[in-house]
Amino acid sequence: MKHYLSIKDIDALPNWVSEAKNLKKNPTSYKELGQRKTICLLFFNNSLRTRLSTQKAAMNLGMDVMVMNFGKEGWALEFEDGTIMNQGTSEHIKEAAQVVSQYCDIVAIRAFASLKDKKKDEAEEVLSGFTKYASVPVVNMESSVGHPLQALADAITLKENNTKRKPKVVLSWAPHPKALPHAVANSFVEMMQLQDAEFVITHPKGYELNPEITKNSTIEYDQAKALQNADFVYVKNWSSYSDYGKVLHQDSDWMMTKEKLGAAKFMHCLPVRRNVVVEDAVLDSNQSLVIEQANNRTYAAQIVLKKILENK
Ligand code: CP
Repeated sequence: MKHYLSIKDIDALPNWVSEAKNLKKNPTSYKELGQRKTICLLFFNNSLRTRLSTQKAAMNLGMDVMVMNFGKEGWALEFEDGTIMNQGTSEHIKEAAQVVSQYCDIVAIRAFASLKDKKKDEAEEVLSGFTKYASVPVVNMESSVGHPLQALADAITLKENNTKRKPKVVLSWAPHPKALPHAVANSFVEMMQLQDAEFVITHPKGYELNPEITKNSTIEYDQAKALQNADFVYVKNWSSYSDYGKVLHQDSDWMMTKEKLGAAKFMHCLPVRRNVVVEDAVLDSNQSLVIEQANNRTYAAQIVLKKILENK
């Protein structure tokens, strides 16, 4: 594997999950693989889990790690070809990506959607720019449209907690005061489409995700109906896709409660707003898998880095 940009870069999800579970049992078993190799983690947006788990994964593989808060500390990047750069941008992606490639063997990028311009967000100018001009493999640490490291960690968590041949998994929209991107939900949907599961997406009308992504999935607008007999409930907010980036309403009826969850396990990528997205009683119960999901971020990142290093 050259790059890890989306769930589509996973050639056999069950094998990856199984390999990640083995790494979890013995995290430093491939410590030699990354010796004398360096990864650069470039953040254009905030992070807790992605930053620390990806560093931990790289260190488990023996790599050296350099982290830069590019969004706050780097030069403002230009992405347009042929631009006269006499305005706010200081450095072109062509030089920046090639320069970063001089210092590391893998570059990982976090660059969220602006939620202002759908076309621009879907062009993934930061991730695509680095992929085009860097001479080293690129890893997506959450881009405008996808968060494939999170979805891989979620696949590991599902595998570890599932007891049924074909579980029912529900992705349920939740209210949130801010407009949030679609990346986590998109990658979760793409990952679930690779699973042998009954998968249902539920959200209020107007919050349909990109139909190109959800086209093979069931959508149920009645949350109570969707949640019936669920084994796993993945809760996530996202802003409108059709009325791009807008918060249409903050319908608190959609918050996940212990009563609605029933006997299902609760999943969320974190960070989560307590008693807005989900009530305390869920997060503080043993039905919550959120800390396991966060833990599995390390092994998701580690299997990705291992496969890239083995391919180099
Ligand atoms: N879930 C996740 O990506 O967390 P961070 O934004 O803290 O990295």
